[in-house]
Amino acid sequence: MKSITSFMKMKTDGDPIAMVTAYDAPTAKAAAKAEMDIILVGDSAGMVVHGYDSTIPVTLDDMVLHSKAVKRGAPSSFIVTDLPFLTYNGDFSETLASVKRLLQETGIQAVKLEGAGRTLSVINKLTESGVPVVGHLGLTPQSVGTIGGYKVQGKTQAAADKLVKDAAAIEENGAFALVLECVPAQLAAYIANLLTIPVIGIGAGVETDGQVLVFHDVVGFSDGYVPSFVKQYAHIQSEIETALMTYVNEVKQSVFPEEQHSFAIDQDILGKLYG
Ligand code: KIV
Ligand code: NA
Repeated sequence: MKSITSFMKMKTDGDPIAMVTAYDAPTAKAAAKAEMDIILVGDSAGMVVHGYDSTIPVTLDDMVLHSKAVKRGAPSSFIVTDLPFLTYNGDFSETLASVKRLLQETGIQAVKLEGAGRTLSVINKLTESGVPVVGHLGLTPQSVGTIGGYKVQGKTQAAADKLVKDAAAIEENGAFALVLECVPAQLAAYIANLLTIPVIGIGAGVETDGQVLVFHDVVGFSDGYVPSFVKQYAHIQSEIETALMTYVNEVKQSVFPEEQHSFAIDQDILGKLYG
């Protein structure tokens, strides 16, 4: 299994880190087979798997269930799980209990928390307790309500300055990696250069230390909106639809099942049964 030391070395060697989300065993297994460096059990599960229009409704129980499935599918992969909305900005003992469940019950390796501000002290306390933490800045989907939508971050001087400061603070407080989402490429490159920890981008250009994408986006498993920073490497949604339509047609026309899909019984036994 890779470790935070491997990721640090990849950064210094200029070897980009490949990361993808997974939410269940078969997709995690496929990610492991593709030699994904990190698997993220993202709270994007709320949107791509559970059909919510944001990550806000996702619960700790959801993340525990997804993490267990991912761990079974990819037992030797380094797995990071998102702490869901409002599970890490209140009482620290509650945060600790949530993290404890994820690390001990599911066997994942690290947790990801969004934002700086109040999140910084949480990152600090968790890493002090021996919990590997990934930060997440730029577009932080759990703050969609206060950001006012899903849009590129850090475009003004003030916003860019804040992002740089927050990124540095996340490193200082002990995170071993930082995800930067929807940030201008030049700014993301600057931050990746500034920090010693790996910066993993999504919609943040090619000069970060790695890339992360949502599984469903990578394989084209969606019939909805596709963000412009996404590259679909396949279009499995249409393959799935075609397969299902063909199946329905074959059932309706009694074409399926054929003999090879059916079980037979000895003629003798059949004779005795029915005379
Ligand atoms: O939940 C998620 O999929 C994420 C990635 C977009 C980084 O947080
Ligand atoms: Na997330």
